[in-house]
Amino acid sequence: MILTEIDHVAIAVRDLEAAIKYYQEAFGATVDHREVVESDGVEEALLKVAESYIQLLTPTNPDSPVAKAIEKRGEGLHHIGYRVDNCAEALASMIAAGATPIDKAPRPGSRGTTVAFIHPKGSFGTLIELVQE
Ligand code: CO
Repeated sequence: MILTEIDHVAIAVRDLEAAIKYYQEAFGATVDHREVVESDGVEEALLKVAESYIQLLTPTNPDSPVAKAIEKRGEGLHHIGYRVDNCAEALASMIAAGATPIDKAPRPGSRGTTVAFIHPKGSFGTLIELVQE
């Protein structure tokens, strides 16, 4: 088994502050990490749950893929981050299994991780992110 943890569940929201406040009030959640990832056109807030995160994601510009996802499908579940020990090996394994990569090679993600995204087409409708810490 290549996967070591559910790294994060990413939820696309229009108003990051409102979403954080809701998770704080509903669950007593606290923000563990916050980051603007300019290359992805997103700002994220990570709320820690055991060894995993809820990742609240909001677009920083109208051309951001997350902005387009919200426009098309509304707010909600955006992708799942699966934690792996070796992103390059996991990516190769997924490609060998027939997955369609969005990233041809691992690249930097938030909080110093190395990541690669896999297209929902060919992965039963779920946008998958491989995350190596
Ligand atoms: Co993610």
